[in-house]
Amino acid sequence: MDKTGRARPSASSIAGLRREAKACTACPLYENATQTVFGEGPARASLMLVGETPGDREDLEGRPFVGPAGKLLDRALAEAGIDRQASYVTNAVKHFKWVPRGKRRIHSRPNAREIQACEPWLRAEIALVKPDVLICLGATAARSLLGRGFRVTRQRGVPVESDLARVVLATVHPSSLLRGKPAERKAEIARFVADLAQAAKALRRRAA
Ligand code: URA
Repeated sequence: MDKTGRARPSASSIAGLRREAKACTACPLYENATQTVFGEGPARASLMLVGETPGDREDLEGRPFVGPAGKLLDRALAEAGIDRQASYVTNAVKHFKWVPRGKRRIHSRPNAREIQACEPWLRAEIALVKPDVLICLGATAARSLLGRGFRVTRQRGVPVESDLARVVLATVHPSSLLRGKPAERKAEIARFVADLAQAAKALRRRAA
């Protein structure tokens, strides 16, 4: 950890970063989480997906996007023609933040200080993977990487100027698609797939 309370990654491989992040205490979230949930996927993936924080399932399994939002993401990626196994999937914050409700652990949104404390891990992942296309899933990832002024509602699906990758875009978080009336959800999922399809198109342009 540095003087500002941010993580200080030093490893030069994803496996090394993952080992270091296991012991991260840069913010208090490690105290109530089961484990650090680091990113996973090929170390030189051409697509990187960045979510918010691990949820209950991810916290228990130690892998990103394996719970209900992850299942929805998997289906949407497949529909957009993207192979999750070939992508690097991670989160802006690597520990589950939750509040108790009865016996359940309810997800709680990380605050600016927690996002900042964790940001060096995310930046280190990006620097090593060097994705060609990067997708921010939701406002937390977008604000961590694209600035606090970024508004997913206004700028979703549109590539933004960034030195993080050749193509960088943001869309909604898949967990937002698990709520709402069925008809609205269907339309929102279709918009989400369309945003992912933009990324798929950008990936194909590079491969061609
Ligand atoms: N939501 C996220 O942002 N990340 C996960 O890994 C799971 C749910």
